[in-house]
Amino acid sequence: MSQHPLIEKFTRAGQGQVFAHWSTATEHERAGLLVEAAEIDLQEVERLTRALLRPSAAAGVDLDGLAPAPYERHPANGGERAAWHAAKAAGEAALRAGRVAAFTVAGGQGTRLGYDGPKGTFPVTPLRRKSLFQVFAEKIRAAGARFGRPLHWFVMTSHANHAATEAFFAEHRWFGLDRHRVHFFRQGRMPAVDFEGRILLEGRGSIALSPDGHGGSLRALARSGALDVMAGEGVDILSYFQVDNPLVRCVDPAFIGWHVLGGSEMSSKMVTKAHAAEKVGHFCAQRGRTVVIEYSDLPAAVQQEKGPDGELRYRAGSIAIHTLDRAFVSRMAEPGGGTSLPFHRAEKKIPTVDAAGNPVKPERPNGVKFELFVFDALPFARNPVVIETLRADDFSPVKNAEGADSPETCRRDQLRQYGRWLHSVGALRADETGHPGIDLEVSPLFGYDDDSFAASWARRTPAPRVEHGVYLE
Ligand code: UD1
Repeated sequence: MSQHPLIEKFTRAGQGQVFAHWSTATEHERAGLLVEAAEIDLQEVERLTRALLRPSAAAGVDLDGLAPAPYERHPANGGERAAWHAAKAAGEAALRAGRVAAFTVAGGQGTRLGYDGPKGTFPVTPLRRKSLFQVFAEKIRAAGARFGRPLHWFVMTSHANHAATEAFFAEHRWFGLDRHRVHFFRQGRMPAVDFEGRILLEGRGSIALSPDGHGGSLRALARSGALDVMAGEGVDILSYFQVDNPLVRCVDPAFIGWHVLGGSEMSSKMVTKAHAAEKVGHFCAQRGRTVVIEYSDLPAAVQQEKGPDGELRYRAGSIAIHTLDRAFVSRMAEPGGGTSLPFHRAEKKIPTVDAAGNPVKPERPNGVKFELFVFDALPFARNPVVIETLRADDFSPVKNAEGADSPETCRRDQLRQYGRWLHSVGALRADETGHPGIDLEVSPLFGYDDDSFAASWARRTPAPRVEHGVYLE
């Protein structure tokens, strides 16, 4: 009996175990397996096995010649006000010209939060329990109205959550956005392998495939046609943010302006790390380039180093907010263009099947997943700019069910933001952390940053009553 060419190809590559249960598989299982197998680039898997799994593989991350990256200080911390004003004006001009689109990476598996469903559907606001997606949608809608140009919004999903994400938006009528300006596309997948580089099965008729990391967004933007849509619409700048952070300014004029005026292809926001061991990436300079080194890769002693001013030397924490030029994404996505991102390996407990095809739930890591990180594009970018932002204005992610970066800390940070805005217009006295002392909520359609809030407040006469339970919209 002649074998299917894919089976032969896998067998020749030493990956015949993928079809170990072929003879007893149902037609349905066989068809599924072939579709998944066709997605896999066996040469890439072989290359990654050699580079990242073999004992000879380079150990750890290259820390040679590392120094803290320079960044533009926020005016509140000594930055030059005139330069920030100029940046804001340039960013507003880009928004008014329709050059900017929002971009959310929402393909992650959200395992730490323990929430079943696409993470963007997680209810996050203090009173109305709006979902993360609704918060972003309303910010994007409000910014479009403010600058007179409705924004396009690109949302990267995964195979696992694509249909549920689209259905959620449809069910909520795209939260009032023009549905033709909301674009969903799926990111790519990579097979998980055991420690010898053999591709793992997830079931008798399915391969253990998982999302290829947020860095996969660059090639997915190209492959999906999203870059062509942008080009057709005159959009040349993408405002990138993660799905887990409702405080983010989805489009921030000053940030966009720093990017434009700096002639940068990829720019980033940093916050001063809360403490030496905070689990964020670090902006660093290395051999004339800007790089991000993850918390897990930067030795604790280096993370604790202090400068003469008594501040942490490596204090520039990455909050995963970037501005990207369309042309840069396009260049990074070209296969073999000499600019491909490196894969990272993560050892995981990967559910699989044993030789008899019975399910196995491993208790310790049994294999490796490969992921791309978007910040690895920074060293390839012309004139990368890093600007400082204030945590209170831009960053309070929901990552864990409890403790730091949880729904509870995020709820408090949202209240503090409302409290600061209301305090600044004299509507209440917030405490020194900004907390208003009462529960309330401000719709992004009323205000999504200092300027838009102040403008709406000034337009409202008489001024709204601010009391426990109020919802400003
Ligand atoms: C990430 C950053 C870290 C940064 C922190 C800020 C990495 C490795 N680390 O950490 O430097 O300081 O955020 O909050 O990124 N995603 C996809 N597809 C994937 C994987 C992830 O779209 O295949 C998306 C997720 O939906 C989420 C974002 O990327 O929006 C972050 O992913 P996650 O793995 O949670 O990153 P962190 O470890 O929290």
